[in-house]
Amino acid sequence: MMQTLSAAAHEASRATRDLGSRAAGIESGQTPVIQVQGLGKTYQTARGALELFENLNLEVEAGEMVAIVGQSGAGKSTLLHILGALDTPSEGTVYCASTNVSKLSAREAARFRNREIGYVWQFHYLLPEFTALENVAMPLLARGTGKVEALRTAENWLREVGLEDRGEHRPGELSGGEQQRVALARALVCGPRLLLADEPTGDLDGVTAGRVFDLIERLHSSHRLTSIVVTHNMELAVRCGRRLRLEGGRLTEITDPGPKGLQAGHLS
Ligand SMILES: Nc1ncnc2c1ncn2[C@@H]1O[C@H](COP(=O)(O)OP(=O)(O)O)[C@@H](O)[C@H]1O
Ligand SMILES: [Mg+2]
Repeated sequence: MMQTLSAAAHEASRATRDLGSRAAGIESGQTPVIQVQGLGKTYQTARGALELFENLNLEVEAGEMVAIVGQSGAGKSTLLHILGALDTPSEGTVYCASTNVSKLSAREAARFRNREIGYVWQFHYLLPEFTALENVAMPLLARGTGKVEALRTAENWLREVGLEDRGEHRPGELSGGEQQRVALARALVCGPRLLLADEPTGDLDGVTAGRVFDLIERLHSSHRLTSIVVTHNMELAVRCGRRLRLEGGRLTEITDPGPKGLQAGHLS
């Protein structure tokens, strides 16, 4: 099994090795952690150009936990992808974790993601053939950490998300909530500064969603993360320190988080 695990990690690490200090643009001690100015994103589609953002601006300070709400198709996932260097802007500048993410090569982007970004999606995307422990260890192995240390760190992370007794389980042997806990441990195992969560509780029942969100809040505080959480769940959005709505290609602050401010009609 370890051979196979090594092979998978090797595959994942190819893009991240040999970069040395070439991860251009990485500086330190700069705030805000996220600084987006004049963002534009255009997709070329069969029906012509689709312009998603219109001069979108965003600043997020270190330690903030920000909820982003908005209708389906508004561009929430695309915005997170751009912040996490999974997609590139068409216009504007995007600084994330002191890095100009629009200027990264594909290899630099992979390294940036490994070091700075913890990403969680609606679906866990755990590798089904590996155990929970191996899934959590994978990003460490990808960056070149030795197997013993990677598995030990992964074990600590499983404990931190309350799953120390599930390490040998494969994703298919875990509940939806447990799968998301493992996904959170995997997202944070490399010690990123930023947590980007795209509808992390969207596939869970209400009670389980609340518990996974409790965990996100706890990890956010204890690891001094800066977190952006896209959610359709208004009860969860109001628990974030700041709420933004993505609408008409721009972000606006939701200052009144009451029933009107977070009206279901604005969401989907
Ligand atoms: N790679 C792509 N090519 C073309 N259109 C895309 C691509 N990715 C997303 N879109 C379109 O951009 C819009 C915003 O998508 P998305 O960011 O996923 O929205 P949200 O997460 O708010 O539901 C949608 O209309 C979607 O179809
Ligand atoms: Mg989305």
